Amino acid sequence: MPNIYNDKILILDFGSQYSQLIARRIRDIGVYCELLPYDVSSHFIEKFKPNGIILSGGPDTVSQTNSARAPDIVFKLNVPLLGICYGMQTMAVQLGGDARSAEKAEYGFAQIRARNHSSLLNNISDEINPDGHGLLDVWMSHGIEVTKLPPEFKVIASTNNCEIAGFENPKKQYYGLQFHPEVTHTKQGIQILEQFVTHICQCEKNWTAENIIDELIEKIKYQVGNKKVLLGLSGGVDSSVVATLLHQTIGEQLTCVFVDNGLLRLNEGDEVMNTFAENMGLKVIRSNAQQQFYKALSNENDPEMKRKIIGRAFIEVFDHEAQKFKDIKFLAQGTIYPDVIESAGAASGKAKVIKSHHNVGGLPENMKFELVEPLKELFKDEVRTIGMKLGLPEKMLYRHPFPGPGLGVRILGEVNEDYADILRHADHIYLEELNKHDLYNKVDQAFAVFLPVKSVGVTGDERRYDYVIALRAVETFDFMTARWARLPHDFLDHVSNRIMNEISRVSRVVYDISGKPPATIEWE
Ligand code: XMP
Repeated sequence: MPNIYNDKILILDFGSQYSQLIARRIRDIGVYCELLPYDVSSHFIEKFKPNGIILSGGPDTVSQTNSARAPDIVFKLNVPLLGICYGMQTMAVQLGGDARSAEKAEYGFAQIRARNHSSLLNNISDEINPDGHGLLDVWMSHGIEVTKLPPEFKVIASTNNCEIAGFENPKKQYYGLQFHPEVTHTKQGIQILEQFVTHICQCEKNWTAENIIDELIEKIKYQVGNKKVLLGLSGGVDSSVVATLLHQTIGEQLTCVFVDNGLLRLNEGDEVMNTFAENMGLKVIRSNAQQQFYKALSNENDPEMKRKIIGRAFIEVFDHEAQKFKDIKFLAQGTIYPDVIESAGAASGKAKVIKSHHNVGGLPENMKFELVEPLKELFKDEVRTIGMKLGLPEKMLYRHPFPGPGLGVRILGEVNEDYADILRHADHIYLEELNKHDLYNKVDQAFAVFLPVKSVGVTGDERRYDYVIALRAVETFDFMTARWARLPHDFLDHVSNRIMNEISRVSRVVYDISGKPPATIEWE
């Protein structure tokens, strides 16, 4: 079995919105990489032994004092470097060149001309101009540019507005690109990154789904031995993949607890039990705690308090179920790599908490479990690929995200069973129609929201005075910003009619046309 960590790339994060994307691209190419803050210790970098280092973009202005710098160690390790945008600029400044405000800032598409046959861009082009230079369509985003090359560097790419859009020091194998190869707008971006990672850094492509699964199985066996493991199964992608992986590795040693909190989508509890307990033979305990959650939530209107109550109630129920097993040593969790990156960001104060996202964390101290977190090095798309290989249904792996507090944050204000039932029904109609019309996969998240206000309507000769359902659908890349989906009017008309005809307690349906920012995706 190849060692999947043998060849690896370190990405130092200067805070660009695309940093995680760089890491995902490198992984897709088939090479392991880690993303760490640019100021991680030199000791760590040395110990990590990367085959190459990428310096990401970032929001700082390189010409300002106190702007971020790459740690000196990266220039001493004798490994190839690739600076992207800010990463290129700081490399220039740190190695004796200069970078200043561009005469003409460039944001968006640009065409660069590859020059001097660098090993980074060699044989990569979208078209060739009459002089034989390769031309590349790229995504630029910069107001600063390198204005003076450091000694021993030469230009490898230019645009009409930016003379030094790429540079290299071939002897040292240092490269810089002013544009972003990691975004799909740069058509040959992946090829450029692949050339860096495989040809220049000489990494072998061992990071494949099969090898990752083999490695995870070995690690789990080593950590767990013959001890027992408990898992909170939510039916979401991450916990489902952990459950399947553990089941296939340690079989009967795994017990799952599935808490039905009364805030799930229609039939969700039964579907989870069907997939895991009946079809796959996992030991799953279903805890029907609906009433406990409704009771805890009664009279509470505040969204953040509601999240806390739901989180606390989950822990109580889970704890209660766990008490029934005296000999369990491990608690498995579906933590994934972005959680690890983001909690590092939160710990260093770099991330702002807008909503306290409740995950199955923070279990009480007295639950003396050791954690098993097999997915904590993986991005979501890697988790999905592994899930597919393990045989999980595609429908389950490619579902829209569903928040931990579930319908609790989609029923505005106070939550009760009656409201939850109405919302479940409306949401089901909406999702069913999205699927039928082949629209589900064209949006990134879609759901219904219950508004506890009454509005007047008319059915036949009768006046109705009932609740309002809002429909939301968004297109987003990272859920940090989102655009409301332009669903066809006829489709919305059809869904709205079905909801009002089939649910007697709804007299009006509205469509949410708010972008994020300033609105958030969920209504609470
Ligand atoms: P917002 O509403 O912050 O949502 O724009 C961004 C993404 O996060 C999900 N979300 C949550 N997920 N617990 C979760 O596990 C939460 O409390 C929570 N609140 C929002 C939301 O569904 C969207 O995908």
